[in-house]
Amino acid sequence: MLKTATLSFILVGCATVLSAQTKSDSAPAAPWSTGDARLDAKVADLLSQMTLEEKVGQLVQHSSDDHPTGPATKSNILAEIRAGRCGSMLNVTGAAYSKTLQEVAVNESRLHIPLLFGYDVIHGYKTIFPINLGQAASWDLKAIENSERIAATEAAAAGIHWTFSPMVDVARDPRWGRMSEGSGEDTFLGTKIAVARIHGFQGDDPKRDDWVLACAKHFAAYGAAQAGRDYFTTELSERTLREVYLPPFKAAVDAGVATFMAAFNDLNGTPASGNTFLLNTILRREWGFKGFVVSDWGSINELQMHGIASSPRDAVRHAFRAGVDMDMESKMYYPELVTLVHAGDITEDQVAVSAGRILAAKAKLGLLDDPYRYNHPEREKAEEMKPENLLAARDLARRSCVLLQNVNHTLPIKKTQTVALIGPLADSRIDILGSWRARGETSDAVTFKEGFEQVLGAKNVFYAKGCGITEPSVEGFADARSAARKADVIVAVLGEGWEMTGEGHSRTSLDPPGQQLALLTELHELGKPLVVVLTCGRALTLEKVLPLADSVLVAWLPGTMGGPAIADVVTGAYNPSGKLPVTFPRNVGQLPIFYNHKSSGRPQPPGERVQYRSNYIDSPNSPLFPFGYGLSYTQFTYKNLRLSTKRLKQDGSLDVRVTLKNTGSYDGEEVVQLYVRDLIGSVTRPVRELKGFQKVFLKKGESRDIDFTLSPQDLAFYRADMTFGPEPGDFQVFVGGDSDATLHASFALAGSDE
Ligand code: NOJ
Repeated sequence: MLKTATLSFILVGCATVLSAQTKSDSAPAAPWSTGDARLDAKVADLLSQMTLEEKVGQLVQHSSDDHPTGPATKSNILAEIRAGRCGSMLNVTGAAYSKTLQEVAVNESRLHIPLLFGYDVIHGYKTIFPINLGQAASWDLKAIENSERIAATEAAAAGIHWTFSPMVDVARDPRWGRMSEGSGEDTFLGTKIAVARIHGFQGDDPKRDDWVLACAKHFAAYGAAQAGRDYFTTELSERTLREVYLPPFKAAVDAGVATFMAAFNDLNGTPASGNTFLLNTILRREWGFKGFVVSDWGSINELQMHGIASSPRDAVRHAFRAGVDMDMESKMYYPELVTLVHAGDITEDQVAVSAGRILAAKAKLGLLDDPYRYNHPEREKAEEMKPENLLAARDLARRSCVLLQNVNHTLPIKKTQTVALIGPLADSRIDILGSWRARGETSDAVTFKEGFEQVLGAKNVFYAKGCGITEPSVEGFADARSAARKADVIVAVLGEGWEMTGEGHSRTSLDPPGQQLALLTELHELGKPLVVVLTCGRALTLEKVLPLADSVLVAWLPGTMGGPAIADVVTGAYNPSGKLPVTFPRNVGQLPIFYNHKSSGRPQPPGERVQYRSNYIDSPNSPLFPFGYGLSYTQFTYKNLRLSTKRLKQDGSLDVRVTLKNTGSYDGEEVVQLYVRDLIGSVTRPVRELKGFQKVFLKKGESRDIDFTLSPQDLAFYRADMTFGPEPGDFQVFVGGDSDATLHASFALAGSDE
């Protein structure tokens, strides 16, 4: 027989206090319900025994003092845990270490409630995969999901219950350093990747102990910060917010994501961490999200600096009322929430709902049955960096590479050729891992130099650093020249280091920094075949790079196995198949630039600059490389675009078929992309929008029909009256290898009376 527990709680968004029996069939489920009556009873039982202070304690998250990931202030964490004033910790890793803290919570706190350990497992835990933007360039949902499954397995074995990932912020401005952590500029691609990541982390069987709770962050519109400045203001119309920035978050809810993180930024005058419209109206009421919301690091405190709260207590009032359940490192929910309850500003029932959500997460993870489920050091050892993990990291790093230029088929090089590997990033262990390297060890990283030596043999690789990443010295140029003279091919590894992207690392210049362009100029003057391997965490401006190089390969920051992976691509063991998840501009003045913009009333005629049109006088409007762009060692041709109907009915569907042929001399993969343009709407519509993609492998000479299906729902948008749905009228569909695809056909969406 299940134990029946009585619990008071409020329904979200209404002030009615209900008394519910969690077991009763007729009573509504508690807002935090786990969906499992046995676990619900456990949570309710705990809540019924907890003091107000203990309930508030569940809403408090402290960072470990080692490796803080924000501006840390010290506190006596053990005392807080013993007193039941800490429900969760971040930055605690290792099965043994987290067990010692768990023992304090379980053995020394009054109600023995285990802690929830959260950590930034962003692109791998021990085995580091390419940075997230690089992964997005693979357009390979299976490989991405698999990378998160591996990350979850390694992290769970190291005592971690919860990752602060995926970051699903759409980012249209590469000045923003955190573009590296997301999936780029496109909502459709970003939404698909968000779902793949959540499935990878959370798995589909909660009984397994190798899954971790995922967290959709940063809610919301953090990537739209003005001028690309981190933590900065965003001003967006509700239509743009809902059409561009929210869909990956909504998809995360539908995919069952366990938690959300509120963002730092001010959105239209209300900071996201105190934003009722976002957290209550949209997330809870419209989308029905049942998990819990954590603040970002210190973001409750920051409501004061934003100028919306006059004191810590006021900040807590704003954040909690808006819907933030857990306080990450503001150290304010305790004691301010207690005071606010005593003052009658917030009810204890409201606190109980938030505490219930957090306890429910612990229950679902199995921690209320066995607090040490994730604490087996022998398992930790066995799981980390298994050969198959390293192979998957190498494979995803290869799949992420985007070939931007390949004059005279300089790539792939022959395995018999000698290589001069030059540049400040060619032999750097730390940079290859990128920011957020979790517990990835630099000693485990295989650099480009080491990777090329493995693949070509050490005697065939001549290395010189040439210069630093940002430093002014050119002393190393002479060594670089002499190494280059010895080799058949020069491979210059240039770009950004790990510290140039990620949180708090926005830039105003997007050129390769320091003396790197000068080094490239010197190498170019030697007249040898010259390949640039570019490491970066954002779109860079490459107008100065392209004329100096024969081939340009974007490797991003490729992770633990980056070296051998890129050597595989350069030598042709793997034929590049990545496509840009973000537009590469010509210059910073074009920013923000993204493919799915609107048309002006005076659009520039293609390729022409005409007076009184919406063009620059000193730069083309077009980017250097469009979204979706990427070359292969082979060639793909698209022909014979066919539509199953020219008139799509409201309850019908439209099949789009194109014939893809590999006409070059290598086997290879192509990302076939489908874009749609809605020609006339009740509000203006983007010039094109991605609505489908498939990554297809074709042997050389092979051709295949590729099919997509569109339904009226795929054409939906926020209409003039802000209802969501498609509008009858004329559309164009484009299919090709990037967002400039020219092969197109037309159809009409019929009205509902047809
Ligand atoms: C701040 C970052 O914005 C967030 O993404 C991260 O998860 C937290 N710090 C915790 O490290």
